[in-house]
Amino acid sequence: MKNTVLEKISKRALRVAVIGLGYVGLPLATTFAEAGFHTTGIDVDQKKVDQANCGESYIPDIPDNLLRRLIDEECLNFTSDYTILDEKDAIFICVPTPLGKTHDPDISYVISATQRVKTHLQPGQLVILESTTYPGTTDEVVLPELESTGLRVGVDFFLAYSPERIDPGNHDYNIHNTPKIVGGITNTCAELASALYEAAIERIIPVSSTRVAEMSKILENTFRAVNIGLVNEIAIICEKLGISVWEVIEAAATKPFGFTRFLPGPGLGGHCIPVDPHYLSWKLKTLDYTTRFIQLAAEINRSMPSYVVEKIGEALNEQHRSFNGATILVMGVAYKRNVDDVRESPALDIIQLLKARKSIVLYNDEYVPFLTLGDQTFCSQPISSGLLQAADCVVIVTDHSYYDVSWIVREARYIVDTHNVTHEYINEKILRI
Ligand SMILES: NC(=O)c1ccc[n+]([C@@H]2O[C@H](COP(=O)([O-])OP(=O)(O)OC[C@H]3O[C@@H](n4cnc5c(N)ncnc54)[C@H](O)[C@@H]3O)[C@@H](O)[C@H]2O)c1
Repeated sequence: MKNTVLEKISKRALRVAVIGLGYVGLPLATTFAEAGFHTTGIDVDQKKVDQANCGESYIPDIPDNLLRRLIDEECLNFTSDYTILDEKDAIFICVPTPLGKTHDPDISYVISATQRVKTHLQPGQLVILESTTYPGTTDEVVLPELESTGLRVGVDFFLAYSPERIDPGNHDYNIHNTPKIVGGITNTCAELASALYEAAIERIIPVSSTRVAEMSKILENTFRAVNIGLVNEIAIICEKLGISVWEVIEAAATKPFGFTRFLPGPGLGGHCIPVDPHYLSWKLKTLDYTTRFIQLAAEINRSMPSYVVEKIGEALNEQHRSFNGATILVMGVAYKRNVDDVRESPALDIIQLLKARKSIVLYNDEYVPFLTLGDQTFCSQPISSGLLQAADCVVIVTDHSYYDVSWIVREARYIVDTHNVTHEYINEKILRI
């Protein structure tokens, strides 16, 4: 069985399926299609399937012409029909792993995708989970489900975990040149998964188990969440001390060893960093252990939108204005620069806090033309001198690279700058965190 899979990989005869065609799944499907494997993307969202089949990418990092070329060359197609799995040799699962209302992991998507895979599980198939999740998901949740078919792991089918490290909007690092960590349930599972990734990705990092692979991803994101929490608290401390946190960080960052530069901001956003550490916290709760760093960092990071709103209050106060009736222009609602993803974006909290204070909120974000919050839908406003001048305060929440900062500084009445993009200007009308 093992040799058959290896031979199919080397001859590019292995047929790949990718379940979940979002920010992770669509790039992964194109990566394997580009590497010469016939690949089918599967999603429950028929709109995405239809759009992708027409060669229209909805993920900014995947250009339409790449999709069209791969579809025309008959290397890539998309469907919502799981029966295609009967013909597949390798199946990647890239479905969401969000938090539930109580901040506990919601692995219902992983379970549902696994149950679908189970229905079509064939001898010789290689299944790889890529969704970010707590250590133990692959062996405690996915494995028993697949083995309930009577097929045995490492013998009849193969199961591995490999965390996705994609960084949307990053032009230097992509799937090809970002090292890929791979852990298998058995050595053969790890060997086969590594061989498949090697065909498409420059460097593979095999680890001893799926749990190590799962934990390594959570460590990466917890490392970021905790360090961002630390630097956000340092920003609050620096303000109390009357010094610039930005100058402090630049000075500290000149140390050539032992210091990693993290920057403060309006709070954490995206599908990963604010979410993934809670997967670990939850898992450890089941083992009667409290993950203190994660909780403290989350507390500080979650308080940042309120801190930004306090700054907006200061800017209004200087103009003898109150929140009630003031016009606030939010620059950038995506969770980070140059992407269209608003999941967990701190801008959403800031807008809601401002709405609760009865401010009139407008926003600009070329990547996000519409934004629905509760029962209200906002439209991105084109930036103009009139718009900048009409706002009692302009708050820069996302540091998109298309902003003309000198123009914003010239036109705006007051600015709250959460990313120090106005660093070249010394102006009492600019309030920085
Ligand atoms: N977005 C990132 O930058 C990033 C980076 C690294 C890891 N991850 C992790 O990768 C996983 C996927 O994230 P994403 O950002 O791609 O999510 P996403 O929401 O963009 O895409 C997930 C897709 O899965 C589909 N889906 C849900 N259930 C399904 C099912 N049963 N069968 C088929 N399709 C199904 C959804 O319709 C959606 O299109 C998550 O665990 C996430 O934490 C994300």
